[in-house]
Amino acid sequence: MNTVWMTVAAYLIGSISFAVICSKLFGIADPRTYGSKNPGATNVLRSGNKKAAIATLIGDAAKGWLAVWLAIYFQDKLGIGDATIALVAIAVFLGHLWPVFFRFVGGKGVATAAGVLLGLDIWLGVATLVTWLVVAFAFRYSSLAALVAAVFAPFYYGLLFGVEPQLFAVFAMSALLLFRHSKNISNLIAGKESRIGSKKGK
Ligand code: G3P
Repeated sequence: MNTVWMTVAAYLIGSISFAVICSKLFGIADPRTYGSKNPGATNVLRSGNKKAAIATLIGDAAKGWLAVWLAIYFQDKLGIGDATIALVAIAVFLGHLWPVFFRFVGGKGVATAAGVLLGLDIWLGVATLVTWLVVAFAFRYSSLAALVAAVFAPFYYGLLFGVEPQLFAVFAMSALLLFRHSKNISNLIAGKESRIGSKKGK
């Protein structure tokens, strides 16, 4: 029973779209109406409002981290297993992608995945974030950095902990993240992807 309500709670936490909420709070346009139309920190940055973009990044990452951290914190007290932690990790990510509070139109999951990975293990999160930073600084494409980091994340998990339920959650998250970036992948191949900080829409 704990598994069911924890998974549902994680999905509901993930369904809070900080891109939409922060944009409203900062008095800027809804990110679903400009740029890539993605409700995510990268697209909010295209509004020119760095504070709103940072707040979005922190909010979306924090919800991923919080859901997983709570599940791990209560693991022994509630007697839940690794499979429940894995389900919570996937559920908060799915909430971000298909949020029940926003007509199931969500983001691509990069910040939330980062939060989930940090919640699962600090070094897993740090290794993946460093991968993102290296690619982002080298190529200035947020999407490319996310794609490369997503490919590496399951390997990092496997190297750190071996095969356990959470590895499948990380793998599924990466696969979904790649799937959500299909337009970015086409744009990258066509040389049309906008670089970090560019205000140009696409
Ligand atoms: O955070 C999502 C990022 O990887 C790509 O976003 O707006 O450029 O499609 P966007």
